[in-house]
Amino acid sequence: MKHLISPLDFSVEELDQLLSLAQDIEHHPSKYSNICQGKKIATLFYEPSTRTRLSFEAAMLNLGGSVLGFSSANSSSAAKGESVADTIRVISCYADIAAIRHPKEGTAFVAASKSGIPVINAGDGGHQHPTQTLTDLLTIKSLKGGFENLTIGLCGDLKFGRTVHSLINSLSRYRGISFVLISPRELRVPDYIRENVIEANHIPYQEVESLDSAMPNLDILYMTRVQRERFFNEEEYLRMKDCYILDKEKMKLAREDMLVLHPLPRVNEISVDVDDDPRAVYFKQAQYGVYVRMALIITLLKEAGRLC
Ligand code: CP
Repeated sequence: MKHLISPLDFSVEELDQLLSLAQDIEHHPSKYSNICQGKKIATLFYEPSTRTRLSFEAAMLNLGGSVLGFSSANSSSAAKGESVADTIRVISCYADIAAIRHPKEGTAFVAASKSGIPVINAGDGGHQHPTQTLTDLLTIKSLKGGFENLTIGLCGDLKFGRTVHSLINSLSRYRGISFVLISPRELRVPDYIRENVIEANHIPYQEVESLDSAMPNLDILYMTRVQRERFFNEEEYLRMKDCYILDKEKMKLAREDMLVLHPLPRVNEISVDVDDDPRAVYFKQAQYGVYVRMALIITLLKEAGRLC
């Protein structure tokens, strides 16, 4: 059974096929509008979400299928003490595929090991968020034409930001990539990502604190929110929360073809006056998230023999 737990669960070739399918879905949606008729996706969300849960649901509805699930642990039997392992066994009787978000790292992996249906990691604690990465990759591929020879700036909370960890994992497989890691010292990329992914793949990178000095060299600026829910100490969060604010003035330092991505939700880190800049593509990125999740549902259901 193929699941999506880590962004590396798909080879580069499989990823290319998935992104090409997503692009075909974008351009020919009617070809796919009934392909999942009679199929159901379960969205098991133990943590809040707007985009990920609703884009999975929109994706399955766009494919002619149906949705079921819960949007908080409190509205499920987790509140009575049921384990994720038992929950996924039961959900395997009700649905054809499941997307799970949980605050604890590794939960999607555990769920997959007990599941009778494909499991998609929709975010596990501060660890990984592979479908956000698929969204980011489709955005970059569609708007930049590919992934090679890009200088990518990742800015903000690089310690707890799971979307950053997943994106670095995925992009490290392409030629000519370099990273500029822009964060305060306290929120730097974890050692295991820097050493086991970036350095192990001989990717050129810099760790800097100044967004202004990094801006002129970037092809992509990936902004992130400071992850309040992962801080142990509210005072520390308050000290860090406005460490970077991208505004119209700062955008003057960037190249004319630099793109600004953000997984959203944003808090303060991008001023609303940037939204009208054609280089700000974060809302377009959210739309790409639907196409790529449609492609993922089709791909995993086919692999599981649940779709012809
Ligand atoms: N990008 C993302 O994961 O957003 P949600 O938390 O709203 O799902």
